[in-house]
Amino acid sequence: MRGPSAAVLLLLAVALGAGTPAPGTAGAQAGDAARGREVFAAKRCSRCHAPRAERGVGPALEELRRHQGAYELAGRLWNHAPAMFTVLTQEGLEWPTIGAAEMANLMAYLQADPARDPAPDARKGQLVLVSKGCLKCHSWKREGGRVGPDLAERQSSYAPAATWAAAMWRHTPRMAAKAIELGVLYPRFTGDEMGNLLAFLRSAAK
Ligand code: HEC
Ligand code: HEC
Repeated sequence: MRGPSAAVLLLLAVALGAGTPAPGTAGAQAGDAARGREVFAAKRCSRCHAPRAERGVGPALEELRRHQGAYELAGRLWNHAPAMFTVLTQEGLEWPTIGAAEMANLMAYLQADPARDPAPDARKGQLVLVSKGCLKCHSWKREGGRVGPDLAERQSSYAPAATWAAAMWRHTPRMAAKAIELGVLYPRFTGDEMGNLLAFLRSAAK
């Protein structure tokens, strides 16, 4: 084969900062890592997540920034709500707002790529919905809890991964507070669980 492959050219373009995403959905899908770095600073993530050599309150920047799936990172961001919420509340600081486009850039900076999420399994996702306790507060097709909205009716929040992460970023502090109030365990996600759950949630649209 002669000449650099398309993948190499793409990597080069990204490294040179040439990847300017169009506004709107296309931009929300493919984030811009350089802008994501600015989001990381502007939302003051860097207060608690410093490079390893400097030591911060939270895990080192190198642990956040690694090759990972996009729904996988959405799961990690979800996990992080109670700890961050508690620290911010103690310090009298507001929970930062992050829109879907900002979230896409942030996720690109943290090296999340939807292509790295394993092929989701909606049947496993249904088990995740039950085992994480979502149905204690939510209904699915009208069956289940009544504290939060029916999850079969929230399709617009489920994809792309950055839209989901942004919706959950908005809601997790309130969910964390509600979980504390009701004495329900705040669910945590690992590996492919978030991707599987979303595959199941999205299946309601079919
Ligand atoms: C007030 C301190 C604080 C701020 C600000 C903060 N974090 Fe965190 N973060 C933490 C702590 C503490 C943990 C580890 C505790 C946990 O995961 O429950 C953590 C964990 C994480 C994790 C790893 C979670 C996992 O399960 O692997 C990610 C990803 C993350 N933070 C991203 C961010 C991003 C993005 C921002 C900015 C929008 C941010 N953090 C701002 C304190 C903070
Ligand atoms: C302790 C109660 C509680 C638990 C557990 C809980 N939620 Fe929620 N959730 C809420 C409440 C309350 C709202 C409404 C928050 C608001 O809008 O202020 C909500 C909102 C939502 C929304 C709507 C966000 C939007 O606007 O698109 C989604 C989606 C969601 N939750 C998904 C989940 C999933 C998935 C789980 C399980 C992994 C879960 N929730 C677990 C209480 C909970």
